Amino acid sequence: MNAMRNKFVEDGVTILGQDAISGYSTFQLGQFKFSRDEYFAKITWQAKGQEYSHLMSADAFLRALMRDVAWGFFYGWVNFDHVIGTQNHYGSVDLYAGTFNGVLKAAGVDYVENFETPLIMATFKAILHDWVSEGFDPFAAPEETGSAFGRKQGDNPDAIERYRIATKRMPGLPDDSPLRDDFPVNRQFEDVAQDDPLVHCEPGFEGQLSGFNLFKYLSRSDVTWNPSVTSVCKQSLFCPTTEEYILPVFHGNDRVEWFLQLSDEITWDIGDKVDGSPIARVIMKAGDIAAMPANIRHQGYSTKRSMLLVWENATPHLPERYASGELAPYPVQF
Ligand code: PHB
Ligand code: FE
Repeated sequence: MNAMRNKFVEDGVTILGQDAISGYSTFQLGQFKFSRDEYFAKITWQAKGQEYSHLMSADAFLRALMRDVAWGFFYGWVNFDHVIGTQNHYGSVDLYAGTFNGVLKAAGVDYVENFETPLIMATFKAILHDWVSEGFDPFAAPEETGSAFGRKQGDNPDAIERYRIATKRMPGLPDDSPLRDDFPVNRQFEDVAQDDPLVHCEPGFEGQLSGFNLFKYLSRSDVTWNPSVTSVCKQSLFCPTTEEYILPVFHGNDRVEWFLQLSDEITWDIGDKVDGSPIARVIMKAGDIAAMPANIRHQGYSTKRSMLLVWENATPHLPERYASGELAPYPVQF
């Protein structure tokens, strides 16, 4: 291994070796093994006294892994696909294979292991740094990035060190996140007006009152499927995002969240949170609003780059209150 690749491997991360042909390293995390070749990521685990494995297309795996890392394991479940995923316990994280797949679970061949958050985070970051070659950006739409496939060729630390913007109050306020006015307008948002609001505030309130053009802001987003926290009002978080191609994960909710479709159209596949069985297909057009219940998983598809507002509730202890049945999984009972 050369020094360049070593730099991203923190203490505690286990590398088993490097594939002589593809050039990618193999990683171990507890009883899980992660390896990749030119086309596939392979995840291996032990169950019923023997080895089981699962393959994912390398591009889909890296896009999912990138989200899990950038979101700090997010709220609840991040299913990379119908087999592999993580459950956030906010301090530790479960990594599972088959545990939330009805068929694999019933067959008893699933496996779940809990890790302290820093160890799984360091391992996932090291995998990303090793497995993302030069030119591939796991946050970018497929039409706007190079290939995830082939033998290892260079790396792309700038693409994977980008983190989710988490504003304290609102972009543009003094000492808060920048407005990103220097980013270019995305090719699919060339029709979005770029004017800024005029803010006149009373003398003495300078720096406390602000406004910005959210559509302009989103039209310049260089990432897809990556909600940024753009306004914080007590426990209410507005997390807008721009979407193109497929949400790389099936997110399993541990609370209700709301979707406001700000532009264009997204198709959502909704499944049971526990076993993945299909429940609904929801087509959201500009102006539509939907509540995603606390007992489902969802994955979105967007052909034309679209703008979505994800409205999150950061009230403490919600996961326990939904899990215990104290709160109904739906915000409204009809
Ligand atoms: C979600 O799981 O709710 C989610 C995640 C990423 C997005 C949009 C929605 O870009
Ligand atoms: Fe979600």
